Amino acid sequence: MHDANRRSWDNNAGSWAEMRDRDGLWRRCPEEPELGFAGGAYELIGSLAGSVDGKDVAVVGSGDNHAVFALAGMKANVTSIDISERQLETASARADQLGLAIAFVRADATDLAAVADRSFDLVCSTNGFFVWIADLRAVYGEVFRILKPGGYYVFYDVHPFQRPWADRNMSIEVDKPYWHTGPFRDEKEGTFEFNWTMTDLLNPGTDTGLVLRRILERPAEDSNTWEGASYRPGKDNRLLDWKVNPRAALPFWLSAAWQRPA
Ligand SMILES: C[S@@+](CC[C@H](N)C(=O)[O-])C[C@H]1O[C@@H](n2cnc3c(N)ncnc32)[C@H](O)[C@@H]1O
Repeated sequence: MHDANRRSWDNNAGSWAEMRDRDGLWRRCPEEPELGFAGGAYELIGSLAGSVDGKDVAVVGSGDNHAVFALAGMKANVTSIDISERQLETASARADQLGLAIAFVRADATDLAAVADRSFDLVCSTNGFFVWIADLRAVYGEVFRILKPGGYYVFYDVHPFQRPWADRNMSIEVDKPYWHTGPFRDEKEGTFEFNWTMTDLLNPGTDTGLVLRRILERPAEDSNTWEGASYRPGKDNRLLDWKVNPRAALPFWLSAAWQRPA
């Protein structure tokens, strides 16, 4: 399933890059690093992991690399890890344009054999990562292994409570039960996606020995969340009001900070 997902991301990397060039958020992340995160994850990093200046940081499933460029702007030594060679090529070209020195590693997040044990002070994953992962236990196991003792894993991702609904705003129409987690095959793209529950997302972390220090459940911060994939400011602020858009009554982001015991 991961190979099918990788092929799809390789095939679509060009059009995805054009879409991201239209909103241009990646250009701003080094100077405005808070833009590289959502759901309170930026604050979690600051309050728990502290300054990343001079620290070794990895982002897994780095995709658009917003978090990568943000962390590099905060003077971290950043490694960007993604399963898709084409996605990494886009990110590498952008890093050159931004004048950022980033290490790029092509690897499946469930198998980071290319990365040495105890390499990083901080590992992050961001928005839209877990949906591609068939084996969460393997990801947490690899994160634990590549973290230095005392290091943190901070993620923010789409909250599981947003998954059961038909994909439209302004109404809540149940599409499937919360416990139907997939795999969901996209016939056109040939991809496999997963809609994990809170239990699925959190228990495997504790199984690996990581200690959960904090979770946050946050609403969408900009109406663009409900308007499509662009990071341009949204046009319809009413979508942040749950009386207009019932899905805004539920958390949109789940963020968590984990620590490998010292
Ligand atoms: C929609 S992006 C979201 C990730 C990122 N947070 C972002 O905002 O761009 C999904 C990225 O995850 C990568 N990906 C998918 N499955 C992966 C896996 N098993 N291991 C590592 N990266 C993966 C894809 O290649 C793609 O670049």
